[in-house]
Amino acid sequence: MSSGPVDLRSDTVTRPTPEMRRAMAAAEVGDDDYGEDPSVNALEERYAERVGKPAALFVPSGTMANQIALRVLTEAGTMVVAGRRQHVVAYEYGAASRNASVQFHAVDDEDGTIAADEVRWAREAAEYHQPATSLVCIENTHMAAAGAPWSLGALEALCQAAGGLPVHMDGARLFNAEVATGIDAARFSAPVTTVMSCLSKGLCAPVGSLLAGPTEVIAAGRVERKRLGGGMRQAGVLAAPGLLALDLVERLVEDHVRAKRLADAVADRWPGAGCDPAAVRTNIVTFSPPSADKVLDHLRGEGVLAGMIAPGVVRLVTHHDIDDEATERAVCALAKAP
Ligand SMILES: Cc1ncc(COP(=O)(O)O)c(C=O)c1O
Repeated sequence: MSSGPVDLRSDTVTRPTPEMRRAMAAAEVGDDDYGEDPSVNALEERYAERVGKPAALFVPSGTMANQIALRVLTEAGTMVVAGRRQHVVAYEYGAASRNASVQFHAVDDEDGTIAADEVRWAREAAEYHQPATSLVCIENTHMAAAGAPWSLGALEALCQAAGGLPVHMDGARLFNAEVATGIDAARFSAPVTTVMSCLSKGLCAPVGSLLAGPTEVIAAGRVERKRLGGGMRQAGVLAAPGLLALDLVERLVEDHVRAKRLADAVADRWPGAGCDPAAVRTNIVTFSPPSADKVLDHLRGEGVLAGMIAPGVVRLVTHHDIDDEATERAVCALAKAP
């Protein structure tokens, strides 16, 4: 490992692999706005197949994929049920209200899931002068809940409670959920209407996410992508590393093992700071030490970068560029933290 900083701020800091850079240079391209980029078409087909949906759309970011899902699956003035700490609720700068004119019915998601009863309640509330619910959004894995994956049983129960309402799964890290649970991405995606995944996090692609779902929904999503300014032209140079990113899924297990090692170190240093190593099943560790600012400063001084996702909540994320040596450097720095 390099002597540079151990960057645990996010799995978005991964850089494209040498193979990805070569694939970018050699990519076959065309104008994707005309549907003529062979590399983009291949990536969309491969992702759609991977998650068991008829069609998929390549977009620049996970945020855009979520926003397109909202624009296609909701109506203005309606309510979207989602966990209060989900990315689409808390980390998209209020985009849902600007792009889709919806309001969230934001419910408890402490363990990373939302309760089927909350969905039943929201549907019934429309009979009592409250806005109609148009969509349910879930996040798998759930970032703020220390990367917790859903269980298939809980997901199926939720989708059943949704009745005929569509369900969108923010699967920015769906492949982490697949590797951690042994439930493949297609089984996780079967009960939901649309699913999105990011290739630019632990999977190392420089740019890009995909939204998959029924053919007519994705066709409508293509129009919304254009409206949002996300129509790309020779995007094959980005799709080519994206195809290689899908080959990196199996190695995510290494990130999970290293995150557990960090979680043990955190729990040793700060018992009672909200980090339960047994609950860390993927690549994210969160904790609330007595002074998060001091911890971040100390870690920076030791060459370890960490971030905060809410007041007082520190996050460490493992990824492709964090090897065993980097993990041990972080463990030592955590042990010495104030
Ligand atoms: C769970 C989740 N959803 C969506 C996103 C948005 O992805 P992007 O940064 O590509 O817009 C992120 C980004 O970190 C995320 O963690």
